[in-house]
Amino acid sequence: MHLTKEEERILEGEEGWTKKKAMEILVAIGDINHASELIPIKSAHVSGVSYKTIGEAFEFVNSLEGTVKVESTLNPIGMDIEKWDEMGISIDFAIKQEKVLAAYKKLGISAECTCVPYLIGNAPDKGEHLAWAESSAVLYANSVLGARTNMEGAPSALAAALIGKTPSYGLHQPENREPEIRVCVKCNLADADYSALGFLIGNLVGDKIPLIELFSSSSVSSPSKDELKHLSAAIGATGSVGMYHIKGITPEAGVEAGAEETESKLSEEKIEIEKNDIEEFYIENNEPDVIAVGCPHCSSCELTRIYELLKAEGKRRKVRRDFFIFTARAIEQSVQTQRIVEKIENFGVKVICDTCFVVSPAFENYDCVLTNSGKMLRYVPLLCGGANARLCNTKECVKEAF
Ligand code: F3S
Repeated sequence: MHLTKEEERILEGEEGWTKKKAMEILVAIGDINHASELIPIKSAHVSGVSYKTIGEAFEFVNSLEGTVKVESTLNPIGMDIEKWDEMGISIDFAIKQEKVLAAYKKLGISAECTCVPYLIGNAPDKGEHLAWAESSAVLYANSVLGARTNMEGAPSALAAALIGKTPSYGLHQPENREPEIRVCVKCNLADADYSALGFLIGNLVGDKIPLIELFSSSSVSSPSKDELKHLSAAIGATGSVGMYHIKGITPEAGVEAGAEETESKLSEEKIEIEKNDIEEFYIENNEPDVIAVGCPHCSSCELTRIYELLKAEGKRRKVRRDFFIFTARAIEQSVQTQRIVEKIENFGVKVICDTCFVVSPAFENYDCVLTNSGKMLRYVPLLCGGANARLCNTKECVKEAF
């Protein structure tokens, strides 16, 4: 990979140990992937910040000096920074988690801990280069916002934040963003159907970028931003692809470059998804003992909708099962959402910030989780003390709570 004189100097250690280490990581990744150069990025998003996942490895972050060069945000940590005690988090874990957070804050990274940075001010424009490390956000940024990021790991996103650049390969280059496989959806979809669809697509396409052709008729509306958020999260959970195309949604879904060649490639491989493929996800296997929504973190719209559903289903009753909603603190505290959150909590539902069901140790004592999230469907059985997860649309999740 070609380096400028300034980049060479950093690699030689002339700007200190931290930047030298960061540059070594970027050069190693760039060389493996045959990148020609480093390119400037608009922002970075760093994952792996829950003490549950990073453990004592955070001491490495603690040893770093200086500050990040671009706007940088963090993924959820292992607890709500204000309500960790209420969550049953041990003092030992809380102290360690605070140290992890302090290590990142010292580097100038924003302590808003969320997987939806694009909903709280870190929203890139079309064509901007990023180094993001949360798969759901990577898919959303590439596919819905038209920004350009590879699926970074925690070390490479942090290294890119410290240098302000990333190696130019993969999804940073237009020729690698073209669809490779057609997925034809032959039914109407709504709400958690997009989680099921994403789960299926991720499994079926592996690392091939899909062109998703949604069933269209005058009575079917295109997916909402929240549905696309769930689709992105589920594809990222089961597949290893960093973007998808949907005509009319993905900014470059016209597939300008090499359109003819792409079309012929696409016609060779085609996956069809029918209604029964989606319905298979809603099997009522186990009785849920907890309900969890907000994976990825809930938007203001979703919180408002959940409140409306609680009002309609619950009248004035309190929920009879544990019910957790996860969101970003900036969303919880926004003017339009604050009152809604209070009203939601009046039903006995807990709204939790900074963390989520999967990355916190507080939710490992349940047997079966009811959720509208395809990403939870994938990760709860792996990372949450052996619990099962059951998919349900948002309305059913609320109904089951009473
Ligand atoms: Fe976000 Fe946690 Fe889901 S990080 S995407 S809420 S697993």
